[in-house]
Amino acid sequence: KTFLLALLIFKAPNSLLIDILISWRFDCYPERGVVVTEEMCHARNCCFIQNSQAKTSGRNGVPWCFYTPEYPSYELVSITDTEIGKVGKLLRNKKTYYPKDIDALQLEVLYEEDNRLHITDPAEKRYEVPIDVPVVPKTASSNPSYTVDFIKEPFGLIVKRTQTGTVLLNTSIAPLFYADQFLQMSTSLPSRFIYGLGEHRSNFLHDVQWNTLTMWARDVPPMELTNLYGVHPFYLSMESDGMAHGFFMLNSNAMDVALQPAPALTWRMIGGILDFYVFLGPDPSSVIAQYLDVVGKPAMPIYWALGYHLCRWGYKSSDKTWNVVKEMRNYGIPQDVQWNDIDYMDRALDFTYDTMNFSTLPDLVKDLHKHDQHYVMILDPGISNSLPSGSYWPFDEGKKRGIFINDSNGDILTGKVWPGLTAFPDFSNPDTHEWWYQNLKSFHEKVPFDGVWIDMNEPSNFFDGSLNGCPENELENPPYTPGILGGTLKTKTVCASARQKISTHYNIHNLYGLMEAKATESALRKITDKRPFVISRSTFPSQGKYSGHWLGDNRSQWKDLATSIPGMLTFNILGIPLIGADICGFGGSTTEELCVRWTQLGAFYPFSRNHNSIDEQDQEPTAFSPAARIAMKEVILLRYSLFPHLYTLFHHAHISGHTVATPLLFQFPNDEKTYGIDKQFLWGKSLLVTPVLEAGQDYVVGYFPKGLWYDFHTGDSLVSSGEEINLQAPIDKINLHLREGSIIPTQPLNLIVSLSEDGLAKGDLYWDDGETLDTYEKDQYAYIYFTVEQVLHNHEEAAYITVETVSFYGVKVEPENVTVNSQEAAFTYRDNQVIYFNIVLGTTGYKSVMILYILLSGEF
Ligand code: NOJ
Repeated sequence: KTFLLALLIFKAPNSLLIDILISWRFDCYPERGVVVTEEMCHARNCCFIQNSQAKTSGRNGVPWCFYTPEYPSYELVSITDTEIGKVGKLLRNKKTYYPKDIDALQLEVLYEEDNRLHITDPAEKRYEVPIDVPVVPKTASSNPSYTVDFIKEPFGLIVKRTQTGTVLLNTSIAPLFYADQFLQMSTSLPSRFIYGLGEHRSNFLHDVQWNTLTMWARDVPPMELTNLYGVHPFYLSMESDGMAHGFFMLNSNAMDVALQPAPALTWRMIGGILDFYVFLGPDPSSVIAQYLDVVGKPAMPIYWALGYHLCRWGYKSSDKTWNVVKEMRNYGIPQDVQWNDIDYMDRALDFTYDTMNFSTLPDLVKDLHKHDQHYVMILDPGISNSLPSGSYWPFDEGKKRGIFINDSNGDILTGKVWPGLTAFPDFSNPDTHEWWYQNLKSFHEKVPFDGVWIDMNEPSNFFDGSLNGCPENELENPPYTPGILGGTLKTKTVCASARQKISTHYNIHNLYGLMEAKATESALRKITDKRPFVISRSTFPSQGKYSGHWLGDNRSQWKDLATSIPGMLTFNILGIPLIGADICGFGGSTTEELCVRWTQLGAFYPFSRNHNSIDEQDQEPTAFSPAARIAMKEVILLRYSLFPHLYTLFHHAHISGHTVATPLLFQFPNDEKTYGIDKQFLWGKSLLVTPVLEAGQDYVVGYFPKGLWYDFHTGDSLVSSGEEINLQAPIDKINLHLREGSIIPTQPLNLIVSLSEDGLAKGDLYWDDGETLDTYEKDQYAYIYFTVEQVLHNHEEAAYITVETVSFYGVKVEPENVTVNSQEAAFTYRDNQVIYFNIVLGTTGYKSVMILYILLSGEF
């Protein structure tokens, strides 16, 4: 630190120096809404410098009250080697200003893998997050790509990348706190490029200008600087040389993550333990794969999940819902899934349907199935508790089995949601999972749904806490409350002091959506014996194993169209690739132009659903003018043609922890110009999507990283030096480009080959029956790897695969002839260097190997 400062003093002009010093102030008074005085600050033994930029303490301003470099913290009193790393002892001699300091800590440094470091404090018997993480190996990794150094007093931990010496973590820059309800740890960051930390509405690249991100699951229409539905204490950070690392704080308590321009980051959690992982990458994709090795890789979706989904709140009857489906069929617009919101229910009661207005629901579902379509309906966790005894099995039985959340007196806690007064199932209790399954099963016997949409599971409550409020105690009013919307933990949810099977709600609030998804996923497995389809509003790390997610109650505005891309990219790096926003917008009224553009972008959401709020004007593709309807149909058809590729990307997410929708920086980590891009994205590694995100435009500017790109629609090539390019974008077009060197399978099976400068290309296809559980694990799939000359495969499923056409982009001279496996093939060639030819080729049957030799001959 002294060296750094000396260097800065030497080089920096005064004003810059002051900025730098200010940017290294660590907030000693983060409490919200308090105007800190000198007296208050000195009472905490901190430095006070009033600054015009911030009027109060807390979020989004330069702190007035900040720690001195030598501020007392823990002392490392011993550190010894173990088989797996090191174990140390930390002691605190001086009390902090928060109650119940934990004076003695045990530090365990676990060199788990070459690219994964795990640090934890297992000494105290405290609440720990109940998700499965890998068992700690018996011995340390043999060749770790990191080093760990310690500073004795005040205690600090420094993690460096061995290869470059880059400091990835340095906790010595501010004091460590570890009190019963206040854990705080700061670290420097190697750059200002930091991503993740969901769920927030922001750019993909977070702002480090005094930006505090609060995490506490909350039902609120997405807005900036607010805690939202999900909680993901994971970040990805870029280093200065294109390398990347990740950091995961395994903690489920309410927390603030404060970013500041140093750049540095502070974790402030109000419970649990300090338990964290560092992932060394070194490229961004590997960081995500390593993170997902810890929390779990996403489930392989059932094939129809990739289709176009239609939903709205306020269809009002099953016949109206059915009409929408019929209209879609009439116009030949692809639709795989029809959904219903709460209006299908009898008086908003879970596991019922309205036998007046939705009397034909079972027939509608049968009809969907007959047309190879599927049905998904909503379920909310709140279970009505005020119907006459004996008339509503879900509550009566739940009460009998003791599966609801209790208040701090041990009585069932009463909240309020759509059906009126409700109890909330406690999904931390295995008995609740059995009860949930039985409810789903008996409803499935009446309405054979195919998937479940779990909403309101923060859990959302129209009361703050409960019908009777909440007690006054240290759980409801902790010594430090993160910057939660509404100011208290209980705002629009259940009391923090409510009791659940495994802990107080205080500790496990943020896990509610995860645990409900787990119960729903396992129930669906049992009921359908197929891959479960679950979409959840609230999420937590490991959620991707059980469900997808949508971005909640957006609005029909251009801004919301644009912010859906960072939302989608963030959830991809958080291991929940089955993600999308409500296409055409949920709240407010859409316009035809907005809805066309949104359908174009939405065709490239991994999860593509048009959803609308109650009383808003219709926004199904069939509700618009013929021109708009045709534009929407075209782009949905384009999505459908890409299913073989999309499905393959999901396979890679499931097996290897890859992203489906990919930020540009993942493929071009050495091009800093990609670091802030969130108006464009890739599917996988090579398909670049450049949507129009503003009104009244017939062109769009996109950034093309250096290299050769092909227009997906025409095969026209463009060579970029790493520049922005103006693209024509009439209302019926979405710009798509293929990166050189790729092969994309489309359907009916066609290979699109985009040759690199040296005439190379590769790609792949994962194929199975689309619904059987664990096909990869059970070896019931085909995986085909394509290179320019070869198509290889190795399993029976490929017996059904026929390559019908191949299109090559980038063949500069017309070939004289084309042969496929020595037989001449018909082909067409266009000036813009595209060649198409038809080959009808099956494979020779069980466990065959298909080798496709394509020879283009001529004078090249
Ligand atoms: C809130 C959800 O976010 C929204 O999608 C849904 O339509 C309403 N609840 C009504 O169920």
